[in-house]
Amino acid sequence: MNLCTQKLLAAKSIVVLTGAGVSAESGVPTFRDAQTGLWERFRPEELATPAAFQDNPKLVWDWYTWRRELVSRAQPNLAHKALASMERVAPHFRLITQNVDDLHFRAGSQSILELHGSITRIRCSVCNLIEPEFDSNSSPPTCPRCSNYLRPDVVWFGESLSETVLSAAYEACSQADVFISIGTSTMVQPAASLPFMAKQYGAFTIEINPDDTPFSIAADVCLRQKAAAVLPALVSQTWT
Ligand code: OAD
Repeated sequence: MNLCTQKLLAAKSIVVLTGAGVSAESGVPTFRDAQTGLWERFRPEELATPAAFQDNPKLVWDWYTWRRELVSRAQPNLAHKALASMERVAPHFRLITQNVDDLHFRAGSQSILELHGSITRIRCSVCNLIEPEFDSNSSPPTCPRCSNYLRPDVVWFGESLSETVLSAAYEACSQADVFISIGTSTMVQPAASLPFMAKQYGAFTIEINPDDTPFSIAADVCLRQKAAAVLPALVSQTWT
């Protein structure tokens, strides 16, 4: 039995943080990977800030519509499915994701802390009405309650994360016996502080990422493979 398996079996609480790398094998582009990353091709300040939406709501809405359609065509991969299985067999399991796609949900994960919101949810940019009926031919459509523009329910640069979601994530990290950071460059705060926090509170930490990140040096184990290759094996070795 290897060290990761031993630690996972002994853990009373397992916490997983995922980033865009988990969905890469479903064909959803990451943000910072050279050549394929979204921020290599697009400028975040023109597309993912409140000011960008104010300056050019149509551009921002259309870009998110393109991403929403891309996500809706994608299917959960073996990494999403392995994490859903882990939730079913592991004693106390929390999944924290920075991803705004709904692939964890579609793979069967039940309890997900979505730090950056969800691209599949729409809300009013002013009154915050969630999932209103809207005219998909308008760009952007307007709120049926207050007539202001609708927007994706995601966290943009310069915006705060939901306090409820963030405190639940902090609490989970402070109680984790094993913390697994998967497919994230660990560059965007406050999500990037979570692996370090878990480590500080005594968790055994595992990083799954083909590349080095700022957390690699602190992680107890780094598995330098793709998430969809390593996670199914980790789950089947541990729980069957
Ligand atoms: P990044 O694009 O910054 O990082 C993706 C990470 O996944 C990189 O470290 C890759 O090496 C790794 N990776 C790529 N393919 C992988 C695979 N098959 N298996 C495992 N790892 C793989 O994405 P995030 O860290 O998620 O924020 O980015 C964090 C935030 O920055 C996003 O949530 C988004 C973005 O701006 C908002 O939209 C608010």
